[in-house]
Amino acid sequence: MSKLPKEPSAGEITPPALYLRRRELLKNAALFAGTASAIGGGLVWLTGRDAGSSGAAGAEAPGGDAVPLTDARPPGDASTRAEAGETKGRSSFVTDEARTPYEDIISYNNFYELGLSKSAPAANAGRLRLRPWAISADGELKRPQIIDLDTLLRWFPLEERVYRMRCVEAWSMVIPWLGFPLAALLKRLEPTSRARYVQFTTLLDPEQLPGQKSRVLDWPYVEGLRIDEAMHPLTMLAVGIYGKTLLGQNGAPIRLVVPWKYGFKGCKSIVRIELTERRPRTTWSEAAPDEYGFYANVNPAVDHPRWSQATERRIGELRRRPTLPFNGYAEEVAGLYSGMDLRENF
Ligand code: MTE
Repeated sequence: MSKLPKEPSAGEITPPALYLRRRELLKNAALFAGTASAIGGGLVWLTGRDAGSSGAAGAEAPGGDAVPLTDARPPGDASTRAEAGETKGRSSFVTDEARTPYEDIISYNNFYELGLSKSAPAANAGRLRLRPWAISADGELKRPQIIDLDTLLRWFPLEERVYRMRCVEAWSMVIPWLGFPLAALLKRLEPTSRARYVQFTTLLDPEQLPGQKSRVLDWPYVEGLRIDEAMHPLTMLAVGIYGKTLLGQNGAPIRLVVPWKYGFKGCKSIVRIELTERRPRTTWSEAAPDEYGFYANVNPAVDHPRWSQATERRIGELRRRPTLPFNGYAEEVAGLYSGMDLRENF
């Protein structure tokens, strides 16, 4: 992120088609009133209960060979009926904008632990061992515990959420994630009355994440949210993309997705979720406090010190497009920040 992206020339700037975006916002608001539908079939496959016998345990391959969830579903699984008829694998949290092609999502990445270039994470992801994988849930919780990932995946139905992702470097994608709301996990673990923040920690293992051998950042990568942000229905833990298991370069086996914030909040390959009373440290805000804040809400009115945040380059498109406040999710999340100065709390 320290590298300066190319500035857009004046001719590349798209006239703001804001009325179109407004239509989408209104539609999203209507969808939010509905009930999210779940994909039970993916859940069965990802837990590995049937994977061993069917030989579909893609998650055990180093780096994770993505396996289509539908192909791996055991025959006769009850969820097949629901998926075919009612849910079509969609939840209500879906933008109708064109989805970024899968190949782009898995080959243009930021994951400094796997290398600093955009192509390095995909090239090095094979070092990451995705099973066994455990997450420590601790701190201000009534039920702190170490959770095996496959156990965790049995707890919650998976949903598809098609979200915009806006990187602080001023590029963006539209990604169909597969995962579950972070709120579901937190409710189950029961935060104490003292819990005000949540901190997320990436795996620390320089053998699997060789970028950690150089001190470009203070490893492990940590990120944090206020508890109300963490409990917001848009906030999710993702385990898949385009119906396939997450690959190492995208933060396998489990990563955070907060669509109204800059992408760096989306901590990858999580091994710890800690509830805290005090605001936790976060990697980028410590590395460059003038450039990356704790809140990191997408805000076209607050430029990065070295580039404008007013527009963005959607991967796969030539012209830049305007960046929207809260990445287009203002209607859903602006209330979380009422009364706050978003320039100060950037
Ligand atoms: N998580 C870790 N552990 N290390 C990282 O370098 N990069 C962040 C975020 N999560 C990063 C990380 C940044 S800057 C972005 S934009 C997103 O991951 C990119 O996610 P993607 O590669 O899946 O598109």
